[in-house]
Amino acid sequence: MDMQEILDEIVAHVAPLCLQGEVASYIPSLGEVSPDSFGICVAMADGEVFGAGDWQKPFSIQSISKVFSLALVMSYDYDSIWKRVFREPSGTPFNSMVQLEADRGIPRNPFINAGALVVTDRLLSITGDAAASVRGLLRQESGNPEVEIDALVAASEADHGHRNASMAHLLASYGNLENPVDEVLDSYFKQCALAMSCEDLAKASRFLARHGVAAGGTPFLSPNQSKRVNAVMLTCGTYDAAGEFAYRVGLPGKSGVGGGIVAIVPGRCSITVWGPALGPNGNSVAGIAALDEFTAKTGWSIF
Ligand code: DON
Repeated sequence: MDMQEILDEIVAHVAPLCLQGEVASYIPSLGEVSPDSFGICVAMADGEVFGAGDWQKPFSIQSISKVFSLALVMSYDYDSIWKRVFREPSGTPFNSMVQLEADRGIPRNPFINAGALVVTDRLLSITGDAAASVRGLLRQESGNPEVEIDALVAASEADHGHRNASMAHLLASYGNLENPVDEVLDSYFKQCALAMSCEDLAKASRFLARHGVAAGGTPFLSPNQSKRVNAVMLTCGTYDAAGEFAYRVGLPGKSGVGGGIVAIVPGRCSITVWGPALGPNGNSVAGIAALDEFTAKTGWSIF
């Protein structure tokens, strides 16, 4: 199999799809990104890396950061987070609040915004600086010491963050935050505003393709924990499109409104795609098509 040829073909095929969908604009500084970029990178578990298109151009990772905050919390504090957040698909948009009140302040899963706020809150309690902890993990695993929080994106989201703020207050009203609402929101907006390329992100998520083994060869998560993070990505990583994503791609995946998606082939590789124009569920249209073609061509799906 010629991986470089596969990636080059995918980039050529999905180019027309980059103009389908809408670039997220509810965070104004994300709306400034041009929709016609597309990148793909495959980081093999054994270290080889392949890329095509705009695979080295940084973008805002947004909700993809939720995978790393969850992994960090599990690495410190294995199971206790699951008393504060469920792990069931929500079937609702990433920023929906309707189930939160019905479930008395326990979010459906750690990847919808309400659940990610709880995970960030826990990480803030454990490390004192949740966004810096996520950044540290991403720098270490990507090997890129320049991975940084885009302060303009974080400020832009904070200025328009009424919905996340209302979720955080509702969580606090049920006693499901350990830290002040403003501190949790600040940490969450910063972790979402980390800027990385497809290359950085594919390398950084490779531990999930290596059963939890980190870049230096040391265990970061146990194989069991790595399995669990991948399972939650499969069932909840693309929100109310998780069924469609499993149907088309057949891999654990996590999307972000910056247009990135990370997908994992356990035991084999991690793959990152980036195309800023999003479909109605907040997932990259070109990115899903690219991953669909990738698993079809390679046969590397978990099914
Ligand atoms: O909280 C938000 O709305 C954004 N910082 C992240 C949302 C996101 O990326 C959803 N993913 N598709």
